[in-house]
Amino acid sequence: MSESGKAKGRTTRRGFLSGAAAVGGTLATAGLVRPAAAESDPENLPPNVADWSRYLGEGVDARPYGMPSEFEEHVVRRNVAWLTASTESSVNFTPLHELDGIITPNGLCFERHHGGIAEVDPSDFRLMINGLVDKPLIFTMDDIKRFPRTNKLYFLECAANSGMEWRGAQLNGCQFTHGMIHCVMYTGVPLKFILEEAGLKTNAKWIMPEGGDASAMNRSIPLEKALDDCLVAFKMNGEALRPEQGYPLRLVVPGWEGNMWVKWLRRIEVGDQPWHAREETSKYTDLLENGQSRRFTWAMDCKSIVTNPSPQAPLLHKGHNILSGLAWSGRGTVDRVDVTLDGGKNWRNARIDGPSFDKAVHRFYYEFDWNGEPLLVQSRAIDSTGYVQPTKDELRAVRGTNSIYHNNGIQTWHIRENGEVENVEIS
Ligand code: MTE
Ligand code: CO
Repeated sequence: MSESGKAKGRTTRRGFLSGAAAVGGTLATAGLVRPAAAESDPENLPPNVADWSRYLGEGVDARPYGMPSEFEEHVVRRNVAWLTASTESSVNFTPLHELDGIITPNGLCFERHHGGIAEVDPSDFRLMINGLVDKPLIFTMDDIKRFPRTNKLYFLECAANSGMEWRGAQLNGCQFTHGMIHCVMYTGVPLKFILEEAGLKTNAKWIMPEGGDASAMNRSIPLEKALDDCLVAFKMNGEALRPEQGYPLRLVVPGWEGNMWVKWLRRIEVGDQPWHAREETSKYTDLLENGQSRRFTWAMDCKSIVTNPSPQAPLLHKGHNILSGLAWSGRGTVDRVDVTLDGGKNWRNARIDGPSFDKAVHRFYYEFDWNGEPLLVQSRAIDSTGYVQPTKDELRAVRGTNSIYHNNGIQTWHIRENGEVENVEIS
């Protein structure tokens, strides 16, 4: 950008910020967005020597376990109080609009618990294998860590992600509409090795992982998947799982709905048919328009979301802007992401940046110039199987509006002239 362009941009920006600050103000009151840019202290600005350059800083060990800067304290998981009756059986949401790249920091991974967080002492932890096996086994954590291990980056998406949006635009922020997803590097043991150690009977067809928390969550998983790419994981992003994420051991079921990724894993039963547990009958089936229910909809279909701009991250200036977002597919990698600024009249290729891993999130960018006109921003992802993310109308034509789970429809953000962003629908 030329110097004159910059100067022009600044003038525009100053004029514009008053509008944007008002927006930031209302949302910031609710604690939802970065506090409106604080006034700079001239004492810290060139040509002066800034305050932090004048004294020795804290030494090593002042923060034995590092925490983010105090200026980032608004970057936290958040829940929506009215969604659930108690926090023990509830969910909070990843602040997607504040993140970049493809890795979710451990402290910001959304949490979904049905019976609160189990605080497991690893020395008392045991994983039991029983059912249709040659020898039932009980493993300690040390036993598990003696199996060959592997490192894999995978997303976990709750099947209920975007579930509040089936009947129309509802929650104002991608944190709330799409934040039941995280993507971390797991270190764990292929489940196959553990099952083979116990020895599978010839009639073994299904496994039932069970959690050690108060909800004792359990699901039926077909043996082919268990032997294919499932892991029992004990590390995320290099460090021990966080208690919220199932410390000391959780199941990883790549590409499949988050509910199956049993945390605080205490038992795996092997059987010849599914168990029809609560979480796969009363929950996690999809009620269709015709009154019939689809069950066992395990894979998470291809989906994407523009994280910036979004309601918690308004546009702050005219001229050059960077649109950014995430795309993923439970069936492979993402081949292409298109974005539109005019509600689908014109689509342009976004730039996928960073590594593209199977069943992991992909980061995309689209650089654009904004002249202050209202925009209708959408993204549409296409995965490695050729599947194209549907519009919400296309999805409802097949699924009706009785569903809660598996809403992967295209999201629309309406950008107003003052940069404010709102969750809307267009048809
Ligand atoms: N496992 C146990 N034992 N208890 C639970 O409540 N919740 C499930 C799954 N595994 C749950 C569980 C659901 S619905 C989801 S979406 C994921 O864990 C959430 O994983 P996270 O809390 O690590 O984000
Ligand atoms: Co879930």
